[in-house]
Amino acid sequence: MKELNWDNYTDENKSPLFYEGYKRLLLDNVDLNKEMTVLDAGCGTGRWSLLMAPYVKKVIGLDNNQKAIDVLQNKVKQGNTNIETLCNSITSIPLPDNSVDMTFTNITLQHITGDDFVKAVGEIKRVTKPGGQIVLIEHSFTLIKNTPDLVCRKPKEYAEAFKPAKLKKVSGVLFPYLKHLGLKKISSFWLGKLLPMFSPQKLMVFEN
Ligand SMILES: C[S@@+](CC[C@H](N)C(=O)[O-])C[C@H]1O[C@@H](n2cnc3c(N)ncnc32)[C@H](O)[C@@H]1O
Repeated sequence: MKELNWDNYTDENKSPLFYEGYKRLLLDNVDLNKEMTVLDAGCGTGRWSLLMAPYVKKVIGLDNNQKAIDVLQNKVKQGNTNIETLCNSITSIPLPDNSVDMTFTNITLQHITGDDFVKAVGEIKRVTKPGGQIVLIEHSFTLIKNTPDLVCRKPKEYAEAFKPAKLKKVSGVLFPYLKHLGLKKISSFWLGKLLPMFSPQKLMVFEN
């Protein structure tokens, strides 16, 4: 992640429409309930932590970027009481084995390579309870290489890495957004070309 700067990375305020799309994507595809503890691994400034917090008991936002964690902590001070933060690497998560019901990660594993990727996957499996959910939203391809260290892995590569956790669902993240725009028929190819910032991502839900 050397040259990148995720200190203030967020788009939660850019468009209520897309934010609504994220929310629908989660609520439609992932089991969330008020008993759950969720780890948002690579939470950045916490847009997904904030989105999930009202639906679960506790969210733990983990990121190794202190500045991003500071931004999230400031947001938390303004009202969300069930978000905790950890400034740590995803390659050594300071949580006990089987301690979270769901580990969620959005466009973070795609920036982690080599031994660190193997360690991160091992840590996610270790902290997620058996029967829990591992939820990844990652680019499986992109038409633009918008960051220097982006690795677009196919869902089957993630499925292989997360074995024996079983891949339950794979869906494009793009389409829930499109439904909100009333543009169901436009192809992801064209959308990718026209709006490169929405290059397709895949939602993957694994049962641990
Ligand atoms: C593209 S940003 C996504 C942030 C957030 N998930 C979101 O959707 O807004 C990738 C995040 O991964 C974090 N990250 C990268 N390598 C990490 C590591 N080894 N451990 C923890 N976080 C890491 C970065 O600091 C950054 O916040």
